[in-house]
Amino acid sequence: MTMTKTRRGKPAQSPESSNGAVLRASGVRKSYRDGDRTLEVLRGLDFELHAGEFVAIIGQSGSGKSTLLHILGALDRVTTGTVALNGRDYATLSAAQLDKVRATQIGFIYQFHHLLPEFSALENTFIPGMIQRRPTPALIARATSLLERVGLGERLGHRPVKLSGGEQQRVALARALMNDPAVVLADEPTGDLDQKTGQEVLDFVLSQTAGEGKSLVIVTHDPAIAARANRVYTLENGRLNTTKT
Ligand SMILES: Nc1ncnc2c1ncn2[C@@H]1O[C@H](COP(=O)(O)OP(=O)(O)OP(=O)(O)O)[C@@H](O)[C@H]1O
Ligand SMILES: [Mg+2]
Repeated sequence: MTMTKTRRGKPAQSPESSNGAVLRASGVRKSYRDGDRTLEVLRGLDFELHAGEFVAIIGQSGSGKSTLLHILGALDRVTTGTVALNGRDYATLSAAQLDKVRATQIGFIYQFHHLLPEFSALENTFIPGMIQRRPTPALIARATSLLERVGLGERLGHRPVKLSGGEQQRVALARALMNDPAVVLADEPTGDLDQKTGQEVLDFVLSQTAGEGKSLVIVTHDPAIAARANRVYTLENGRLNTTKT
């Protein structure tokens, strides 16, 4: 009599299952065409982020950190591989669904801020909420409170040109938090700040994200910021290595 091998039961996973990760990237490759040459920036990397986690990504200039963050934030597409937020593969979502994900579930802080020059600090901060048609008094109240928390309570009416680089960076941070996203992706969010202000801003972002069971990914060149992360990934040769667990 032959024994039948029993497979001990992992529950069946649907292809887009998140396995508990809020954000998961698998086998991600990203190449850019430059004439007849191909620049391979990301070369089959894997990444995962869980609820309540703070993860830092470090790596040399040009290694692909911003490229990766844009892909994680559904601002750019992979060449091959998958990225899923709460088990939903971006590649399966319509343009309208992706817009909604970006607007409501992800707070993105761009490396170069991208504030709208004709609007004040307060308006720049509340625009994401306005797009979601939240009532004006609530928009103003939340944006004011966020700007106060990042030390800009006296700068609400300033346009970006009348703000310092570090102040613009903090407005970009307040804007990213406006819709209370589940995941904040921040590209060098303390790069223009002194050490003390940088740590204070990090304390604040953590209080609004990982401290609330949400998640934070920071790209940084600052070892003092990376030292506070739950995990640190190094991006090198198009792949991520974990350097701290
Ligand atoms: N749209 C694009 N077309 C072609 N090449 C690009 C494009 N965007 C980025 N690259 C190239 O991809 C590589 C990675 O760029 P990326 O901006 O992701 O680097 P980074 O790690 O964020 O660098 P830094 O620390 O300087 O911000 C660079 O060599 C860059 O020239
Ligand atoms: Mg960059």
